[in-house]
Amino acid sequence: MAKKKTIGVLTGGGDCPGLNAVIRAVVKSSFNLGWKVIGIQKGFEGLMDPSSAKELRSHDIAGILTMGGTILGTTNRGNPFEYSVKKGGKPVIVDKSDDAVKGFKKLGLDALVCIGGDGTLKIAKRLKDKGVPIVGVPKTIDNDLSATVITFGFDTAVSTATDAIDKLHSTAESHQRVMVVELMGRYAGWITLNSGIAGGADVILIPEIPFSVEKVCEKVEDRYRTKKNFCIVVVAEGAKPAGGGLFTKDAKSEGRQEVLLGGIGDWLAKEITKKTGRESRSLVLGHLQRGGHPTTFDRLTATRFGAAAVRAIKERKYGVMVALRPPDVVFVPLEEAVGKMKSVPVDSDEITAAKELGISFGD
Ligand code: F6P
Repeated sequence: MAKKKTIGVLTGGGDCPGLNAVIRAVVKSSFNLGWKVIGIQKGFEGLMDPSSAKELRSHDIAGILTMGGTILGTTNRGNPFEYSVKKGGKPVIVDKSDDAVKGFKKLGLDALVCIGGDGTLKIAKRLKDKGVPIVGVPKTIDNDLSATVITFGFDTAVSTATDAIDKLHSTAESHQRVMVVELMGRYAGWITLNSGIAGGADVILIPEIPFSVEKVCEKVEDRYRTKKNFCIVVVAEGAKPAGGGLFTKDAKSEGRQEVLLGGIGDWLAKEITKKTGRESRSLVLGHLQRGGHPTTFDRLTATRFGAAAVRAIKERKYGVMVALRPPDVVFVPLEEAVGKMKSVPVDSDEITAAKELGISFGD
């Protein structure tokens, strides 16, 4: 009897609402073609050491459409091409990509679906160059991948952030305070811009528009002068004061190579108090933005992406990433899809509309 076509699926990088919906769609679409699906645990770590990989059956995906996180687990570490190992007590970077290729073969896979952000998709591209038939599925709450109009996870993160801003209004108003909310997004301001407008923020600070603390304070004072008596400031973790640098946290001690952002909200709240004398408080929304049930939009996009990934394999289109180009889901070559960041255009309609409403960008 001919061997059943077998595909692998893994999730890499930070988790994001909708990952499970993609996994479910990959499994269901594969089952309908009579294929078998192997779930690889903890991203590429689980490909280099496939001992924990297991076949996904119907009961494994039951009820996961609405669940946040990923049933396969994930990690921000474990890049097979730049793998950190300890030699003589010191961390050394080695290339373990051959182990990943071996893992693929050992599992008897015909193709691999890699669900992840830019980092994961870059690794997928390099494994494809080593001959692994791969299809990428983009995920990110940050919405910063240029090859797709939108990814799943972003809509849920924006809803969570908007909900938090809504809730902060009552304390801001009751205490006549300035509330500063620091939001995720890395080097792009999508989450902050969208939730800031939807949540009725007075000041929106994004990486794409360097800001001046003086201008922010002018807006704060204006709110009190016009008897609004409170002010909501939303600031992206990657925003920068004009002429200043990024606010970062140490990630090297965790063995991470990339920069982790954070800290601007607290700094800004203190600056506002120093310059205006107004009572200010800051809140870092952090990983709450990555949690919870995916919204309807994210479930739908994730499901379409999962089905499209299997379609790509059926059509033998490898080395591609599925992407949303409304109304279609298309296949984009991985080399075109990775490494190109999508920033907020400063002349976007959203920014124009926000400015027309009197929202300050601190510029
Ligand atoms: O890319 C998603 C994201 O949540 C960013 O918005 C944020 O800067 C980063 O990941 C946080 O990473 P970690 O989960 O490693 O703290």
